[in-house]
Amino acid sequence: MGKKDIELTSVYEISKLLGASLDINRTLKTTMKFLSVFLDLQRATIALIEDEELVIKAAHGLTKDEIKLGRYQIGEGVMGQVAKSGYPIVIPNVNDEPFFLNRTGARSNIKDQDIAFLCVPIKFKKEILGVLSVDRLFDTNVVSLDDDLRLLKIISALIAQSVKLHRQAQEEKLDLIAQRDALRIELMGKYRIDNVVGRSPQMQAVYEAVHRVSPSKATVLVMGESGTGKELIARAIHYMGPRANEQFIKLNCASIPEGLLETELFGHEKGAFTGAANLRKGRFELAHRGTIFLDEIADIAQSLQPKLLRVLQEREFERIGSEKTIKVDVRVIAATSKKLEALVQDGKFRDDLYYRLNVVPITLPPLRRRQEDIGDLIEFFINKFNLENSRRVSLSTESLKLMLEYHWPGNVRELENAIERLVIMTPEDVVLPDHLPLNIRTSLVQAVSSASGSRQPMPLVQIERSHIVEALGKTGWVYAKAAKMLGITPRQICYKVKKYGIRQDTQ
Ligand SMILES: Nc1ncnc2c1ncn2[C@@H]1O[C@H](COP(=O)(O)OP(=O)(O)OP(=O)(O)O)[C@@H](O)[C@H]1O
Ligand SMILES: [Mg+2]
Repeated sequence: MGKKDIELTSVYEISKLLGASLDINRTLKTTMKFLSVFLDLQRATIALIEDEELVIKAAHGLTKDEIKLGRYQIGEGVMGQVAKSGYPIVIPNVNDEPFFLNRTGARSNIKDQDIAFLCVPIKFKKEILGVLSVDRLFDTNVVSLDDDLRLLKIISALIAQSVKLHRQAQEEKLDLIAQRDALRIELMGKYRIDNVVGRSPQMQAVYEAVHRVSPSKATVLVMGESGTGKELIARAIHYMGPRANEQFIKLNCASIPEGLLETELFGHEKGAFTGAANLRKGRFELAHRGTIFLDEIADIAQSLQPKLLRVLQEREFERIGSEKTIKVDVRVIAATSKKLEALVQDGKFRDDLYYRLNVVPITLPPLRRRQEDIGDLIEFFINKFNLENSRRVSLSTESLKLMLEYHWPGNVRELENAIERLVIMTPEDVVLPDHLPLNIRTSLVQAVSSASGSRQPMPLVQIERSHIVEALGKTGWVYAKAAKMLGITPRQICYKVKKYGIRQDTQ
């Protein structure tokens, strides 16, 4: 190949290279390698301006350590001068040049050879991005430094373009990341509720619903199994809304006998019935301008349902023994752990009342459907009860694992109670599996034997553990026999008993 051909080919190949990859550092490095091979160079270096310093980004013919040393102030040394002025510098023989820095030390061992050094700026339009410099052994017969300079200028223009594009893309990416993070922070702030713990998508949906309904007066029906936090959420809706400074009146429909419930709800006049010695205001009246929380609404007697329906529709009622209609401004939040819809179908709950209550439904997921929240809740309650009891209790890894795997039929309430007990009762600061309530320690076994239809498939480790417990039980804890039964070695069973924290009273 003639000299011109080599030049053309190298420009062509390098332009292809620079356009091909998104990994700019790798591309620059390969470019330097190509250039060195094509032009038979000793060294080729790209240094870019970063934070007002010239930093070697890619090089061929320098070791990694040499590359690390390559940092220059703008204006310092030959490269620094090119970066400052934007004009190329050619040094026919670096050994004659007193102000040649040789910062990387790369040339110190070839002092007796003549080396030419060419350095061109990497410029995009008027902006100086860095410098491209090469070394070549000096041999006037073969080499024309002018030709080299011309070629380097072309290549540095190509490099400039690709560095600039990369930087723009990088800036856009950082911009997008910043925007995303800002949005996330905003969302997290928006959908957080004080003292309500849990980051699962199901709880996020609950927080979002709470944020949407709390400013309004809409009736809310909170549904969920026992202990899932229905009351907590009802209170949050009240305290996050415009009625926060007014009363939050709670009434548990299940705990009050049918005969008394009406009085509780609507109050009575003095002498309304035997024993009604004084006038008594009902909960609806007390909740005026505030919120009434009707807990366990499914348990309200059928005879009372029409009266409740009327208050919900008209916001008016009469005290027992009075003709006078009382008007109230009350927000209603109801809660139920029973399936109201099923009761409606069975004719036990009026459908018109159901629709009045079910304006905005919020369903709290059971803990076993949002296992990712268990860790956060454990931490929250441990901190809370440690603080209350001036203790510093923490869970051992094994205990934590058992708690995370437990299916918590009593949901958050069960978890909260379990941790309170542990914090108060544990003798040491670290809770070991032995300290855990029996049902948590043995839950895995129960999970196998009950195998209730609704539960999700059991993890393999749980199945394995339960088989081992069973085999040990059947063989009277003789490891050798149990191992034989399971087709494993006594050593293996011994190891697994330790691993799963199985104890003889695990039945
Ligand atoms: N997400 C949560 N974060 C923190 N604490 C919670 C959470 N959910 C529930 N709790 C706590 O668990 C306990 C039970 O919650 P709550 O009384 O609101 O449940 P519930 O659904 O009304 O239960 P029940 O049906 O038994 O009345 C409370 O002490 C509450 O503060
Ligand atoms: Mg409750």
